[in-house]
Amino acid sequence: MFRRHPALTAVLLLLATVGLYLWSKPAAVASAPAAPAAPAPVVAPAYGTCPRSPDGIGKTWMGREISQVMGHPGIGWLERDNREKEEAPSKAIALLELAPDAVLADIGAGSGYYSFRIAPKIPRGRVVAVDIQPEMLDFLKKESARLGIPNVQPHLGAIDDVKLPPASLDAALMVDAYHEFDHPVEMLASLRSALKPKGRIYLLEYREEDPKVPIKPHHKLSEAQARKEFEAAGFRFVMNKPDLPWQHLLIFEKP
Ligand SMILES: C[S@@+](CC[C@H](N)C(=O)[O-])C[C@H]1O[C@@H](n2cnc3c(N)ncnc32)[C@H](O)[C@@H]1O
Repeated sequence: MFRRHPALTAVLLLLATVGLYLWSKPAAVASAPAAPAAPAPVVAPAYGTCPRSPDGIGKTWMGREISQVMGHPGIGWLERDNREKEEAPSKAIALLELAPDAVLADIGAGSGYYSFRIAPKIPRGRVVAVDIQPEMLDFLKKESARLGIPNVQPHLGAIDDVKLPPASLDAALMVDAYHEFDHPVEMLASLRSALKPKGRIYLLEYREEDPKVPIKPHHKLSEAQARKEFEAAGFRFVMNKPDLPWQHLLIFEKP
């Protein structure tokens, strides 16, 4: 039969080969699990909500309720005479390691209490005094003229963006301000871009761990919480200088 019907023979041989292949194919290959899908890119931070407390805004980040912003009528408190006695800002400024030509952003500068005390120490550099309240910037401009300090540059930021060019800063300072940022993730991302590599952040916040510090809870921050938030934003924790009466002086670095 094979010699008489070569075409039929060829078809039968082909069918036999395909059948043999299908029969011998390991079942595991057919049922192998699909490769895990790549994680979806994070498009928006997972802010939470909570019942709004008197000093908070009802929005949370990493378990912390964000505090209300101190309005410009609080300038008198920022400029109070006994601030040096209570908080030792001159000691805090001496702890900052700034080169004479450093460009430092004072983010949440308010009335410029820190900006105007730092600017003379960086005579070939400048302080970019960033705030979101135009009234604060008006005050800063008048103070600059009154004090004759030319290297403080008032700068209007946005609630979610420092609005500074990439790699334009040697360092950033935030004094009693970060806990008020209502978009902390976006603010830190924009700051990360504005800092040069190895650029430092000096974060001064009232110590939450210390019940003797006479400040409302929402205006305090613990070292652990600050580290959680800044490390999640891609900054490296360098140290906490424990020398101030009421505040942490936490130092972070852009890798
Ligand atoms: C409590 S005041 C501290 C002012 C100043 N650092 C000081 O210690 O004297 C906080 C300041 O942060 C500002 N602020 C709040 N959110 C901000 C943001 N996203 N960007 C820049 N400034 C902000 C407020 O407008 C306010 O002037």
